[in-house]
Amino acid sequence: MAPGQSDHEQRESIVRSPTEGPPLFFTGRIVDTEGNAVAGAEVDIWHASPAGLYENQDPEQAEWNLRGKFFSDEEGVFAFRSIRPSGYPIPMDGPVGDLLTALKRHPFRPAHLHALIFKPGCKTIASQLYSHDDPMLETDAQFGVVQNLVGTYVRHENEPAPDPDVTEPWYSLEFTFVVEPGEAWLPTPPVSAKRDTTSDSV
Ligand SMILES: [Fe+2]
Repeated sequence: MAPGQSDHEQRESIVRSPTEGPPLFFTGRIVDTEGNAVAGAEVDIWHASPAGLYENQDPEQAEWNLRGKFFSDEEGVFAFRSIRPSGYPIPMDGPVGDLLTALKRHPFRPAHLHALIFKPGCKTIASQLYSHDDPMLETDAQFGVVQNLVGTYVRHENEPAPDPDVTEPWYSLEFTFVVEPGEAWLPTPPVSAKRDTTSDSV
């Protein structure tokens, strides 16, 4: 299914080429500061493969692999299927690498899902959602982790998954994003069909 289509009753997979990793069923909810559902929010999701590479960095992955665009429904909900993300080292062949080396810091980022949430009349959320059990949570090379962006992955064994083709252990993750009144914005799209192996996407 092309990016831009979603309905949590028909959970889209964002795995668009064979990608090893435990299945993940994600359910997100978007609410306002009073807890009311926010419908029609535009949500971009992207994450790295277990090899530690985004699809634009990896010729083995299909275009848009592990990336998707969704819209929250009347209950503020959006949902998708993917694989559980892993952490990865950021590129060390530039000034950031020199800086980390000088500081005697490792280059690893904890596993995370990126989310960009856009709704006119609300401050745009550009955020990352971290895995509760990642050993790099407290030493993230990017200093991006805060407690309220840590999501708890639930492992399911011998339980039917939402999709019947899943027979191995799988994970679910639920998370609620709170949007505040304010100015909505979107970044100038950097996404291109052209593969750019020099991308420093982190
Ligand atoms: Fe990232």
